[in-house]
Amino acid sequence: MATAPDTGGAPDWRFRPMRSADLPRVAALERASYAFPWSERIFDDCLRVGYHCLVVETDTGIAGYAVLSAGAGEAHLLNLCVEQALRRRGIGRDLLYAVLNRAQGIGVRDVFLEVRRSNRPAMTLYEALGFERLGVRRGYYQAHDGREDAIVYRLELGALPPR
Ligand SMILES: CC(C)(COP(=O)(O)OP(=O)(O)OC[C@H]1O[C@@H](n2cnc3c(N)ncnc32)[C@H](O)[C@@H]1OP(=O)(O)O)[C@@H](O)C(=O)NCCC(=O)NCCS
Repeated sequence: MATAPDTGGAPDWRFRPMRSADLPRVAALERASYAFPWSERIFDDCLRVGYHCLVVETDTGIAGYAVLSAGAGEAHLLNLCVEQALRRRGIGRDLLYAVLNRAQGIGVRDVFLEVRRSNRPAMTLYEALGFERLGVRRGYYQAHDGREDAIVYRLELGALPPR
């Protein structure tokens, strides 16, 4: 497994809100990561409606992003993605903590998400942070050979293990 580069203990990535100028790069990462990617327009809409959109940056630019919608004490994690070449270094986990901590800061108690049944890396990450399986949405996702089920997860933020 790859490990984070030795930067004296601090990881060499940081987080900031997504901006309109980031969208071409974000959409390019999206297309490289998903078989059925969101368009740049969808990310633009997420910014316009005030969803919590974060990017993670390294010295070479944007390496990932997260999108969360929140309201009435609940939030939905709508997207979480790390550049393929930079996976398994802890960026995804840090990004997830960053967005969940922001959610906690605005009074969110429960976070929900859906994940493709075949997406073992994402499910392993979510379960490591305490997300619990709530159920299955049959045929929720488009797939090359028909439809694919979604596993629905929930995390009570109070149960989030310390980073
Ligand atoms: C899911 C994703 C964001 C994880 O990002 P990442 O930076 O590789 O994640 P991390 O390095 O922080 O991994 C954290 C933990 O997740 C789990 N994990 C991550 N990738 C994994 C893999 N390929 N296989 C099994 N477990 C994996 C492990 O438990 C890992 O901890 P460890 O490295 O100490 O074993 C990344 O794989 C990705 O962008 N996938 C494509 C987009 C996507 O599917 N997003 C989720 C949509 S619901």
